[in-house]
Amino acid sequence: MTALFSPCTLRSLTIPNRVWMAPMCQYSAEVFGPGAGVANDWHFAHYAARATGGAGLILVEATAVSPEGRISPADLGLWNDTQTQALRRITSFLKEHGTVPGIQLGHAGRKAATDRPWRGGEPVGPDEAWQPSAPSALPYEEGHPVPDELTVEQIQRIVGEFADAARRALAAGFQVVEVHGAHGYLIHEFLSPLSNRRTDAYGGSFENRTRFALEVVGAVREVWPGELPVFFRTSATDWVTENPEDGRDGWTTGDTIRLARELRARGVDLMDVSTGGITSGIRIPTGPGYQVPFARRIREEAGLPTAAVGLVTDPQQAEKILAAGDADAVLLGRELLRDPYWPHRAAAALGAAKRLPDQYGWAV
Ligand code: FNR
Repeated sequence: MTALFSPCTLRSLTIPNRVWMAPMCQYSAEVFGPGAGVANDWHFAHYAARATGGAGLILVEATAVSPEGRISPADLGLWNDTQTQALRRITSFLKEHGTVPGIQLGHAGRKAATDRPWRGGEPVGPDEAWQPSAPSALPYEEGHPVPDELTVEQIQRIVGEFADAARRALAAGFQVVEVHGAHGYLIHEFLSPLSNRRTDAYGGSFENRTRFALEVVGAVREVWPGELPVFFRTSATDWVTENPEDGRDGWTTGDTIRLARELRARGVDLMDVSTGGITSGIRIPTGPGYQVPFARRIREEAGLPTAAVGLVTDPQQAEKILAAGDADAVLLGRELLRDPYWPHRAAAALGAAKRLPDQYGWAV
């Protein structure tokens, strides 16, 4: 039995293996009209292929809890029933093929209203733009709009939108919900002292900066069934200590471990461990498995299961991460874009049983 192809049980849910698909925006929904934010044929084909490819769990891309929370105008959303219905088709197919359907819920905060990456990823033009909001009126970088500072009432409304979107995700057939707390989007913007300069109950101390994240998780956990898991994606570090501009530290791994303990106490079942994204111009020392040590520390020091992500591309590498106890699962991003059948290839390379669809049985 390999570690990679052993099942993973969280609450009452058993995920058939530990090769999972990382959430990846497709920027492919319609922008205006009744199709706005609605999953279409592209999304169906994309996720269906990774299910037949053998991923144990698929985390559907960052899906916005409100129109203002979209990263790009072409993001998926879960703020209406048409969006809910369209996602049902995807979850049904995934379940039929033995893949657990999960979805990441997010709000882009000050990084909202940017263009698709293949059009440059800059703030969108006036025909598609909206005014972003954030904990403080600080732009992501020069040339980006200065966001409106959220009022406490608006913060509370967004907490409610996360809960509503989680309710819709459940109705759409998802079995895992992941709260997007990473990559410089709204929740991370509250956590990091680099983007949060508030002086009220949502800024300043660690307790205040984590308040929004914990309120969102609390609201999601309340509507999500007790037998199904909730994940939280974190940026385990901003990769900034002693910010040269004003001497402020960013969000650190120590902060993440402290937060992980709080999340665990509030019913989060797994931390999906990424890093970075809070501002531009930060050098990140990337390389194979470069974020794995963060997943290990959180797992060890907070006692919370973790998933490792970032430049995991090789079956032996993935197996070693799990066998060494660095993480409970690996999430693959770009490697699964290159090759939807990576899980089958990895099973063959490691001598584990493949889970090819019956229709492809002759290809064993
Ligand atoms: C991403 N990533 C990402 N992360 C996230 O939390 N939510 C998202 O919706 C997206 N969207 C997205 C789109 C595309 C096209 C890419 C390539 C990446 C980050 C992704 O989940 C993963 O953390 C990184 O890609 C690193 O893993 P890999 O690609 O090295 O396996």
